[in-house]
Amino acid sequence: MRPTEPTARPAEPDRDCPRCPRLVDFRETWRAKKPDWENAPVPSFGPASARLLIVGLAPGLQGANRTGRPFTGDYAGDLLYATLKEFGFARGTYDARPDDGLELIDARITNAVRCVPPENKPTGPEITTCRPFLVATMAEMPNLAAIVALGRIAHDTLMGTLGWKKSAHPFGHGAVHPGPGGGATVFDSYHCSRYNTNTGVLTPEMFRAVFAKVQAHLVDAPPKL
Ligand code: URA
Repeated sequence: MRPTEPTARPAEPDRDCPRCPRLVDFRETWRAKKPDWENAPVPSFGPASARLLIVGLAPGLQGANRTGRPFTGDYAGDLLYATLKEFGFARGTYDARPDDGLELIDARITNAVRCVPPENKPTGPEITTCRPFLVATMAEMPNLAAIVALGRIAHDTLMGTLGWKKSAHPFGHGAVHPGPGGGATVFDSYHCSRYNTNTGVLTPEMFRAVFAKVQAHLVDAPPKL
């Protein structure tokens, strides 16, 4: 018999992931109310070979939680996918449906918390409980060179994941945190949520400026594989 291989930690939770009781209850409620919705942890979108990883907060109830693809059908997806297309990180048509044929190029999108939280607000323990999936997602990306943190929660989760001190790397829109020893650089952005864009906290120009920095950074970071 062959020796048992050590099992790698999965990058995606099971459809019925039991880890966060509050999120399980919420998921079950919506499975009963809307059986035609996805109502399950939303997997990362885009190739693991990508150099860029974008980290959002959590699926929106009627968006990613319904469609099963990050930011798809969420208001925040309109600005995110339009910006990714503009900078060559996506091609095709974004039509707010997972079968719209949109393709990410050298980019991947994930969420700090994979299940939809009530009121769009995951709790601290839920964020911590879901973190191993972010760790595993990053671990399966051999070319990872740039990470965009959408909002403070994504930023703080990333700092924990990377083992960086938050005090040394405070969140700030437009802030760039170079990875030690040539590791992936973290780029902070305000979250592209409806609230932030409607109140002018984040304008499309401010969002573009973040991706312009990412694009410039990647010119000097050729893929390893
Ligand atoms: N949709 C997502 O998938 N993530 C977010 O952070 C917001 C909306």
